[in-house]
Amino acid sequence: MQTVKTLQMLRTALAHLRVGDATIALVPTMGALHEGHLTLVRRAKAEADHVVASIFVNPKQFGANEDLDAYPRQLAADAAMLETEGVALLWAPDVAAMYPAGFVTNVSVAGVSEGLCGAARPGHFDGVATVVCKLFNQVQPDIAFFGEKDFQQLAVIRAMARDLDLTRPHVDSIIGVPTVREADGLAMSSRNRYLSPDQRAAAAALPRAMREAASAIGGGADAAGALARMEAELIAAGFASVDYAVLADSRSLEPLDALGSDPARLLVAARIGGTRLIDNLAVARA
Ligand code: PAF
Repeated sequence: MQTVKTLQMLRTALAHLRVGDATIALVPTMGALHEGHLTLVRRAKAEADHVVASIFVNPKQFGANEDLDAYPRQLAADAAMLETEGVALLWAPDVAAMYPAGFVTNVSVAGVSEGLCGAARPGHFDGVATVVCKLFNQVQPDIAFFGEKDFQQLAVIRAMARDLDLTRPHVDSIIGVPTVREADGLAMSSRNRYLSPDQRAAAAALPRAMREAASAIGGGADAAGALARMEAELIAAGFASVDYAVLADSRSLEPLDALGSDPARLLVAARIGGTRLIDNLAVARA
């Protein structure tokens, strides 16, 4: 695996990969890799000739009081994992390579960006859309893979690709991969490492309470009541607060009062200690 840090080196390396009709898959990450990321790489490898991974801790998607400086950085260990998985090329630009002096452009996706995490983290999804748009243009992948754990992020990226008529990748080639979970159900996340042992044990209440709420709503229970019970269960388990707990349309992410005929999703963000965890589950009629 080759690691490149400048756009010029990236273009040269990509030209060597893109021989004949060889296809390229992109797995964008911010590093601190875990099994969830490696699952994306394995899916990518199964569906393209070459996998390009990117590692870039994107300052534009962190708010002023968020954890940009504390965000884990472990490039050598991450590179070793990617190499073992058979990644062909690692794109690991620094901030000056991604946002050279004079960079003034912002990609902003209205609608799906605005509620849920967008409401709690102003500017976050502009930062995500801007960097992913750049990564798509830099790598020009045939297909790209993102975790469904960041369900709203996936919706934002798809809306951007659709609205900007992107072709590499086309919106239909932006693939959401189901969330990878720990044995107790907690969704894998680079932020789980911030949890103390007690908080980590208590955090298992999140997927458990979500599964209960999803199955109650799917079984016909009143959504507002099921969400309120879930919130109470999280607070009782040791969560400090619940930022949101919403039943939403899977595509528009518009909140729903009840299950309809379109696919629905339960989305939750909750804080335990200083760590904000997010998760989501499909809700289907039983
Ligand atoms: O999900 C992430 O790791 C990041 O938000 C992404 C998509 C790599 C953009 O920085």
